[in-house]
Amino acid sequence: MAGRASSVERVKERATGLDKFVLSEAHGSSVEVYLYGGQVTSWKNNSGEQQLFVSRKASFKPPKAIRGGIQICFPQLGNHGFLEQHGFARNRLWSVDESPLPDTTSDCHIDLILKQSEEDLKTWPHSYELRLQVALSPRGDLILTSRIKNKNADGKPFQFTFAYHTYFSVSDISEVRVEGLDTLDYHDNLQSKIRCTEQGDAVVFESEVDRIYLSAPSKIVTIDHEKKRTFVLRKRELPDVVVWNPWDRKAKAMPDFGAEEYKCMLCVGAARIEKPITLRPGEEWQGRQEISSVPSSYSSGLLDPEMIKQMQRM
Ligand code: BG6
Repeated sequence: MAGRASSVERVKERATGLDKFVLSEAHGSSVEVYLYGGQVTSWKNNSGEQQLFVSRKASFKPPKAIRGGIQICFPQLGNHGFLEQHGFARNRLWSVDESPLPDTTSDCHIDLILKQSEEDLKTWPHSYELRLQVALSPRGDLILTSRIKNKNADGKPFQFTFAYHTYFSVSDISEVRVEGLDTLDYHDNLQSKIRCTEQGDAVVFESEVDRIYLSAPSKIVTIDHEKKRTFVLRKRELPDVVVWNPWDRKAKAMPDFGAEEYKCMLCVGAARIEKPITLRPGEEWQGRQEISSVPSSYSSGLLDPEMIKQMQRM
């Protein structure tokens, strides 16, 4: 790849009529980001392998959110009050941010912004600026940085929760382990959100899982044994972690999701749920999720020493 420059290209998709940005990093990785939802729908590593899941039945027609990739959930995750499920940010049309993050560490990035609309003021009566920077590092890591600012002119604070609802592509869900969540408390959405404590040394998948792990460490690892690939997720100001797989029954009930697709996806995403953020006018919050994909192997409960070395270097 020597000599190739990074590029950011704006493309109008013929099939959907939607605008997206294609970011190509000089070392070979790439990302696609739609203005619709500010949503990343593709992340390929330096070898061109896709790391994210998007359903083959995903609707790219507003107002439905795109099923897969990385959904921006704001001003809430879940289904509370008058707001729509997982908030409105994932199914609104964003714009290019003309005053982007000054301290970017990558020359391959795009900055987007979402502001309130007249329609949204009816259910969430606040002025805000939600900024998202999507960046690729030379190693192919995908870095999402969000900034939210209260722009209310009436002196009122607002409160919100937030999540990067991240759909990873996995080869076989029954061969996947999520590590870093052991001994943590979580809210189990399948049991009326009761608070439970993780008993296993890793989260494994044999049926539907729909949880929010609370106050998780800053690094969470998802090991895809079959694919010999590990996703390392690092996060800042996002203490909680969403873990979701719909399994067979719910998969069949979702119109924009294939009946068998639960086998090849897993949502693990950084979030801020348990302790919502409150911002007074003029205040700004910033959160970040950084994901890397590294080759790995896993056998007899022991991580491959090569992989451990790689992860220590990260
Ligand atoms: C998870 C929720 O975060 O998202 C699940 O906890 C929900 O209950 C899932 O089914 C998908 O939500 P949606 O709105 O994208 O279908």
